[in-house]
Amino acid sequence: MSQSIMVNASELIEQLCEQGWYYQQNVIPGEWVTALADLCHKRTFLQAGIGQGIKNIINEAIRSDSISWIEPRETEPAVVYYLSLVDEIQQLLNREFYLGLNGFEGHFSRYPQGAFYKPHYDCFAQDKRRAVTLIFYINQNWRPENGGQLCLHLPEGQKVIEPVAGSMICFLSEQILHEVLPTHVERMALTGWFVRHQGQDYFYS
Ligand code: OGA
Ligand code: MN
Repeated sequence: MSQSIMVNASELIEQLCEQGWYYQQNVIPGEWVTALADLCHKRTFLQAGIGQGIKNIINEAIRSDSISWIEPRETEPAVVYYLSLVDEIQQLLNREFYLGLNGFEGHFSRYPQGAFYKPHYDCFAQDKRRAVTLIFYINQNWRPENGGQLCLHLPEGQKVIEPVAGSMICFLSEQILHEVLPTHVERMALTGWFVRHQGQDYFYS
């Protein structure tokens, strides 16, 4: 299966810099979408919480998805493929910006029918390590009437993103307020964050 990344690097850099987010379709080839979606159905999921560590609280009024964390040393080919995409994007970001990204944490997400995630930022109040959010969608035959869109709350208004198979969004974790609208069918994604040591709070262009 094809390993080469299909991200438009120059557009990603330009738009992340100018508007704080970047969305592209057809990043993941169809055969890898299938492999990731199949794997997602086989994994063990936990109800997602909000907050971090001992403050992690399950609150279904805020989010009702389930997650399955990815371990860095997983050997499943689809996960290895996913981590290679993540690695290429991390190298791109580190080449172009002085973000000092030095780690990544990611998980599969499953939103059952009716699930949502209310407006939030991806940074925790006491922990600003998350710098860039990176999400890949693996929903085959997705239709707009399924709901489940990612809605970005931007200064100029709302931007609605369809979670179609093979598409990718990345955005600045501290700056973009976003939510997942209630989905009418199961919705799956690979969601992750590039992290950095605390104390580096600037985004240079
Ligand atoms: C998250 C999140 C958005 C999406 O998991 O923090 O905002 O489109 N996910 O799945
Ligand atoms: Mn989020």
